Amino acid sequence: MKFEKIVVASHNQGKINEFKTMLEPYHIEVVSAGELELPDVEETGTTFEENARLKAETLAAQCGLPCLADDSGLCVNALDGRPGVYSARYAPNRDFNKGMEMLLAELSKSRSKDRSAYFACVLALAMPGGGCQIFEGRVDGEIALEPRGAAGFGYDPIFVPKGYDRTFAEFSKEAKNQISHRGRAFGQFENFLKASLA
Ligand code: IMP
Repeated sequence: MKFEKIVVASHNQGKINEFKTMLEPYHIEVVSAGELELPDVEETGTTFEENARLKAETLAAQCGLPCLADDSGLCVNALDGRPGVYSARYAPNRDFNKGMEMLLAELSKSRSKDRSAYFACVLALAMPGGGCQIFEGRVDGEIALEPRGAAGFGYDPIFVPKGYDRTFAEFSKEAKNQISHRGRAFGQFENFLKASLA
């Protein structure tokens, strides 16, 4: 399989840059959905895989190029996996300080003492003629008692990965990528690329 150009199904410049950096060594050109003036695809699925697949397949059919999409979120076990696929929407107006406050309040009200949680990321690579590859990454950990740290984004300040006593917001970007859900899903995608390009 040859990949000269891949469309990233995101309008988030941070994510687009991450994909560009990752695909640079493979000499694959990364174009964003925005650059091609493709519309946003609504995340109507109920699982990370459904949403990633929906975005990648819709855009691949529209633009005739391989498309890469991701969906990710934080799943808290004592809250039956919430906010999960609704992680971005859980925070009012994407105010994650407020979102973290709400989540900590929900957790302290729940009768369970369980603070275990995980971040999940699913990447979908869809081909214009049909066919879609799925790559998944997950990192287990615990919800901290209060937010700590200033790096990262979203729910990073309240997530402590298993085996560490720091939150993701107290990790450098590189150190977080080594163990994060997104880093692990990227790793699988890279293995697939290496095998396809060999
Ligand atoms: P989406 O994948 O862009 O739909 O959004 C996923 C949402 O999950 C983000 O807005 C964040 O709130 C949350 N999320 C996903 N990955 C991370 C992460 O690595 N750190 C913190 N929050 C994350």
